[in-house]
Amino acid sequence: MSVPCVAVDRERGEAVRTQLAEADALDGDHRIEVVDDTIYIPVSDADRVPADLRGRLVERDADARDRPKTPAEILGDEPSLERLGDIVIIDEDDPVRAREVADAVMTSDLPCETVLNRASPIEGELRVREWDVIAGDGTETVHREYGHEFRLDVAAVYFSPRLATERRRVVEQVREGETAIDMFAGVGPYAIPMATRGANVVACDLNEVAIEYLRENAERNGVSDRITAIAGDVREVAEEYAGVADRLVMNLPHSADEFLDVAVALAGDSCVIHYYDIQHEDDPFGPGLAAIRAAAGDEYEVTVETERVVRSYAPHEYNVCLDVRLDRR
Ligand SMILES: C[S@@+](CC[C@H](N)C(=O)[O-])C[C@H]1O[C@@H](n2cnc3c(N)ncnc32)[C@H](O)[C@@H]1O
Repeated sequence: MSVPCVAVDRERGEAVRTQLAEADALDGDHRIEVVDDTIYIPVSDADRVPADLRGRLVERDADARDRPKTPAEILGDEPSLERLGDIVIIDEDDPVRAREVADAVMTSDLPCETVLNRASPIEGELRVREWDVIAGDGTETVHREYGHEFRLDVAAVYFSPRLATERRRVVEQVREGETAIDMFAGVGPYAIPMATRGANVVACDLNEVAIEYLRENAERNGVSDRITAIAGDVREVAEEYAGVADRLVMNLPHSADEFLDVAVALAGDSCVIHYYDIQHEDDPFGPGLAAIRAAAGDEYEVTVETERVVRSYAPHEYNVCLDVRLDRR
């Protein structure tokens, strides 16, 4: 196909290409070509070519550049994908379709080393799921989120990249010098950014592997001096840290209510609780708030600061967060 090109001596090629790029005149859809000592640089719009190069304009056949391809362009439909570091997570019940999607992901322009398909729901106390490795190998990666890096093995720990915005919302409330306790900390996606904001953080998790990653991630992000990481049941740390927390994160949505007595024991005189819950759309905040009020009893005044729907969890069910302040009476 014939397109306008600027033709100059080969030695001037890079300088002229830069000049055209600065003038926003480069045509990215066609290939630059060198013939003998002349370089032909396709331009998108001859009127944008700087005046000193206009005399160099020629019409010329130029080959189209290979454009990067997305999985959707390769497949002809939009697959459901989630990215976690260099892992791409798919969610396909049909193994033939899973293979097709994985092949499309691997040949696309997505930076990807491994494709995993969900092989079980999130299960058990440790909230971990099983995976089918469809392409590549291994289930460990380094995920980046709002300037922090988290190394993790998705087959051994809980982690959801979908909660990035929610975590950010919580972390932005943290003030320098406060004491925050992340009762169900995982590999540290709340605890570590809270420490970066200047909080002194106690991070607890039942999953020893998650706590090993959390310690490594604290080092990796330069905040290990502000994080105390504890592998074990949060009920067991309640005594040692009783009455110290300015902030509590309770991200264990299916059973956080069973830990509200622990939360109240950890709370200082004035403490914000970020309480995650899964409830029916008809009353997404009522049951959580009632449980918090019951646990606080006469000891604390309870004020709701935010009621937030984090995401849809299942038909008619929401994953929600209540930000609630407890003030000792
Ligand atoms: C939904 S995950 C949240 C992890 C992390 N906050 C995040 O956002 O990625 C809940 C975590 O709670 C931990 N857990 C469950 N029961 C616990 C308990 N009794 N004490 C401490 N951690 C617990 C699980 O191992 C799991 O890592």
